[in-house]
Amino acid sequence: MKKHLILTGFMGSGKTTTGRVLAARLGWEFLDTDELIVQRLGISIPEVFARYGEGYFRQVEAQICAEVSERTRPTVIALGGGALLNPETRKLLETRGRIFCLVCDLDELIRRVQHGEGEVQSRPLFQAERARLEMLLNARRPIYERYPQVDTTRSTPEEVAEEILRLWNTLR
Ligand code: S3P
Repeated sequence: MKKHLILTGFMGSGKTTTGRVLAARLGWEFLDTDELIVQRLGISIPEVFARYGEGYFRQVEAQICAEVSERTRPTVIALGGGALLNPETRKLLETRGRIFCLVCDLDELIRRVQHGEGEVQSRPLFQAERARLEMLLNARRPIYERYPQVDTTRSTPEEVAEEILRLWNTLR
């Protein structure tokens, strides 16, 4: 049963902020897989990448995604931007939840991440020049395009949440 409401999208697209708004609107619990990884390992995401590498981060991320998908109570789940690259995670979350993708113009993503306090530092994969970020975004597009997309470039988190709730009600 598609019980959970799940958000994917590139780094800086607004998954966590919008997820919190959605959870408040629905009266559901909110979980962010990056936060759960940090809690589980007791170190920050850049430290996980630096000490153990991206491969280990992805293993823990897949495990956390499997665990949250098993929750009995419907939950709003914000994923890390790369979580759905794993085909098993994708299959599991597509079964257990309705996934929406937040999209945003790359220049606005860069502006948001660079202006947020500590935001670039907390995202090892964002520490790259624009051309590399564009390549990463393009490589991920086929995954992101599997899901209904909501453009956040010129919208507030409340407007984005509103649009997702509208889609959620038409899709269930
Ligand atoms: C990643 C996105 C990050 C975090 C990690 C890797 C990615 O989450 O999971 O740094 O591969 O896109 P956000 O999308 O919440 O920034």
